[in-house]
Amino acid sequence: MDATLAQPHDSASGVAHVRQAARIRGRLPLPGDKSITHRALILAALAEGESLIKDGSDGFDCNSTAGVLASLGVAIERLGEATGGRVDRRVRSAGRAGWREPEGTLDAGNSGTTLRMMAGALAGFPGYAVLDGDASLRRRPVARIIEPLRRMGATLHGRAGDTLPPLTVVGRTQLGPIDLRMTVPSAQVKSSVLLAGLASNGPVRVREAIATRDHTERMLRARGVVVDEHDGQDGAHVVSLEGGQTVLASDEQVPGDVSAAAFWLVAGAAHPDAELTLERVGVNPTRRAVIDLLRSMGARIDERALDGRGGEPVAEITVRTSELVAIEVGAADVARAIDEIPALCLAAACAHGTTHIRGAGELRHKESDRIAGVAAGLEALGARLEVDGDDLVVHGAAGRPAFGLRGTSVMTHDDHRLAMVFAIAGLLAAGETVLDGARSAAVSYPGFFSDLEGVRA
Ligand code: S3P
Repeated sequence: MDATLAQPHDSASGVAHVRQAARIRGRLPLPGDKSITHRALILAALAEGESLIKDGSDGFDCNSTAGVLASLGVAIERLGEATGGRVDRRVRSAGRAGWREPEGTLDAGNSGTTLRMMAGALAGFPGYAVLDGDASLRRRPVARIIEPLRRMGATLHGRAGDTLPPLTVVGRTQLGPIDLRMTVPSAQVKSSVLLAGLASNGPVRVREAIATRDHTERMLRARGVVVDEHDGQDGAHVVSLEGGQTVLASDEQVPGDVSAAAFWLVAGAAHPDAELTLERVGVNPTRRAVIDLLRSMGARIDERALDGRGGEPVAEITVRTSELVAIEVGAADVARAIDEIPALCLAAACAHGTTHIRGAGELRHKESDRIAGVAAGLEALGARLEVDGDDLVVHGAAGRPAFGLRGTSVMTHDDHRLAMVFAIAGLLAAGETVLDGARSAAVSYPGFFSDLEGVRA
């Protein structure tokens, strides 16, 4: 495959050929966590002073956030060469009050997290901004952030009746309070409202029926902001902060991305001759569901806690060839493992029995319709699965040679997580698997295809 990577939306997408692997061995350092890197960049830009972000993600998505912040006048310097999808950055900012109104459109590329979190940050900035992105981003729903941010006093508009990007944001120095009951479990929406809430003149409260990843809460606290979390009477998880608080500049050590680790956990557990060690994986309780779900499928996963800096637990993880069994995955697990569901589908295809994944509708609103995409791709590769509304039913083929998988051409829809899950399937499938859109892996995992070659013992 062509080693030169360009933004997936402005270049030919690249084709990768993946052959079945006889053995899988390796020790992988993993790219920096994408969610934590976005937040570290945005919080550094909201703070006055200098922040060092070590081992952050060098994926396209986090570079989109860095580019958007640079357009607002924030100084972001890359320190040294990126290695394995990790890069150190120094951010200097005069705080939100020091941002300048951007001259042109802010390009969020392929990144929903950039678009939604920056909309919240810009809601508290008195200027006019337009957030836009690639063809995939222009299909991602934005009403979920327009509605609460408007209630707080910002002016936002989207295309197609305020449902789709481009998104214009006209913010205000001071916003009002909000008590938001979230209708979809979304850490992006929660984070967007919390970031806007820093500019509020009153309390900001977000109620989640299913608790989503809490990096924003942890990272705000590490930067001097008081954030309260408690369980409400109706069982909801309630996150709140008092407006008007200042974010302090702070350094961040970014752990390895557990969502990237998920692909190797599935490869290591399913492949008949495998052992992989993943270094410094972020194992935040709100992110680690994929590890626990795979364990409940029988995956042999050993975890050794390491010294985590920056308020995030970190572990070294080893996975070995395992006999996998089917499980039931409900809506709460889907929300907790939202980006890992495609990888879990592949694990289920290699297990004994039938796995049901229920209430996965949010997957239709990701970089592509991941329910349709993962089902079509795995089916083309020989897996047996059905889509039933928002549920996925995967019939495992443990015991059959190569789990009944045989290499063929698979469509990735330029979706990084689909590209990577089909590439992992290619390590298991007989023959050769050919992927279009392989470059999209670099959205979250720039070194993925070289790691894929590296693990062939
Ligand atoms: C993210 C939250 C998730 C996830 C995305 C990153 C984040 O989206 O799919 O890749 O960093 O907050 P939603 O919270 O919208 O489900």
